Amino acid sequence: MARRGRLVVANWKMHPGALQEARRLFSSIARRIRRVRGVQVVVCPPALYLSELVRSYRGANIRFGAQDVSWHAGIGAYTGELSAMMLKRIGAGHVIVGHSERRAMGESDKTVSTKVKAALDAGLAPILCVGEEERDHEGGYLSQLEWQLTASLDGVPRTQASRLVVAYEPVWAIGKRAQSAVTPRLLHETVIFVKKILSKKYGRVVGMKVPILYGGSVEGTNAGALSREGAVDGFLVGHASLSVRDFVSIVKAC
Ligand code: 13P
Repeated sequence: MARRGRLVVANWKMHPGALQEARRLFSSIARRIRRVRGVQVVVCPPALYLSELVRSYRGANIRFGAQDVSWHAGIGAYTGELSAMMLKRIGAGHVIVGHSERRAMGESDKTVSTKVKAALDAGLAPILCVGEEERDHEGGYLSQLEWQLTASLDGVPRTQASRLVVAYEPVWAIGKRAQSAVTPRLLHETVIFVKKILSKKYGRVVGMKVPILYGGSVEGTNAGALSREGAVDGFLVGHASLSVRDFVSIVKAC
C-alpha cells in the first residue's frame, strides 16, 4: 500500500526565551529542509512568537501551529485566552489540544473535547494528544486510552473528523532520551488499537484516515525505526525540535 505523506510537528513548548532565538531556530530548520519532499513540517512556537514568525517566513516549506486554544469560540471577556479564530487569522493551520502537560494543569476530557470542536469550527486542524500515564502488564492502559480518546472526541461529528490528527503521547515516555521511548513493536500495536477506536466511532473509511502521530522522546536516533516499524504517520516532537540537527534528522527519517 502506498504510504501517505508524513507529518512532523515541532512542539517548542515554552522555548526559546527570546524572539531572536526563535527566528534563528526557525530559519535554520527551514534552510535545512528546503529540499525535503513528502513530509509536512509544522512548527508550534509559543503563541507570542507566532505572528512574527508567520510574517517573516510565510513562503517557507513549513506550516504553523499553536500549542493550545481557548474553548470559547470567537471573542469575549476571557482574560488570557486566545480563540481558534484568532489563531487561524494570524496564520496557524494546526493546534495542539489536550497535551498531557496541560491535562496535568487540570484540563479535563470535557474541556479538551470542547477545544477540539472550537478548533474544527474555526477551520484549524486539531492535534489531539492522548496517552496513558503508565503501561501495566494487564492491559489497563488500553482501557485508559480508549476512555480518554472517546471522551476527548465527545460530540465531534464524523463530518469534521477528516481534519483531525491524533497524537499518541504516553506520559511515561515524554521528556526522556531516545532509549525511553516506546519500542516500534509496542507502538505498532497501539496505533492499531487507536485506529480501531476511531473506526468504531467514525466508521472504517474515516477512522482509518485520521493521521496518527507518536510523541515521547523522539530523537534523531530512534525516529527511523519508529517511523518504519511503528506504523505512524509522523511525530510530535518536543525537546529534539529545539535542536536543528536532531529535528532535521527526524524529518529526514520520515
Ligand atoms: P519530548 O519529545 O521532549 O519527549 O516531548 C514530547 C512532547 O510532549 C511533544 O508534545
